[in-house]
Amino acid sequence: MRETYILKVYRGTPGRQHWEGFELPRRDSDNVISALDEIRLHPFNKQGKAVAPIAYESGCLEEVCGSCSMLINGRPRQACTALIGKLVGITEENTITLAPFTKFPLVRDLIVDRSKMFADLKKVQAWVEVDQTIDRGPGPKVFPDIQEIRYSLSTCMTCGCCLEACPQINPRSNFIGPAAISQTRLFNLHPVAKEKKPERNHVMMSPGGIEGCGNAQNCERVCPKEIPLLDAISQIGRDVTVQSFSDIFGFGQKETQEKE
Ligand code: SF4
Ligand code: SF4
Ligand code: FES
Repeated sequence: MRETYILKVYRGTPGRQHWEGFELPRRDSDNVISALDEIRLHPFNKQGKAVAPIAYESGCLEEVCGSCSMLINGRPRQACTALIGKLVGITEENTITLAPFTKFPLVRDLIVDRSKMFADLKKVQAWVEVDQTIDRGPGPKVFPDIQEIRYSLSTCMTCGCCLEACPQINPRSNFIGPAAISQTRLFNLHPVAKEKKPERNHVMMSPGGIEGCGNAQNCERVCPKEIPLLDAISQIGRDVTVQSFSDIFGFGQKETQEKE
């Protein structure tokens, strides 16, 4: 086993990116964030030249905040749970490649601006309206199978891996993407937040909504939380169909409600 490996980083600012290699001691239990920390302490590239430390983000270090998401050996994932020992040797020349996501505006080096995702959550009103803080007693019961679906959807950390992998997210499209669709389903299943379901359906029916999905299914494959994104997309597709009939014929939304 070699004692060092090369971390090759696609770095720079918008329009001025280049690959730069760093030689690091191999410690298999380190994660990619520890490797980047090491470069920050000793910012010398493979040729021994002093360079600016690499810009990257991290927060929770336990795959919960999503801030460290990037392309690692070409795959969208979190740097904090990517172990060096599992990555070295997969590519040629004992090299691990790191690059920023390509579907979001680049800020610098490995940092991108994911604010589109948060703006989309606002668009679909991904929240529960709170009416004062009076104790009104226990809320309505939620069936265990719905709890299970909601729990899984609630683990979304807005990391952006699904958008990065989705071919429908590109400069020519205004598709809202699978994460916001899954959160639409999460809040449509909430006993209080479901009141906003018609508004959410109308967002999904508008340009950039559910119709933008080409059913390539890449999103679910890369989601680190294994969120059932394809089920969410299918359910929202059914909801908007019923909503469009409801808009034409004026019947209520009961028909679109899943068992609650
Ligand atoms: S199913 Fe395909 S097109 Fe639809 S959101 Fe997922 S990756 Fe994108
Ligand atoms: S659905 Fe999965 S891949 Fe997409 S943002 Fe949420 S956690 Fe990340
Ligand atoms: S640091 Fe939070 S997901 Fe990696």
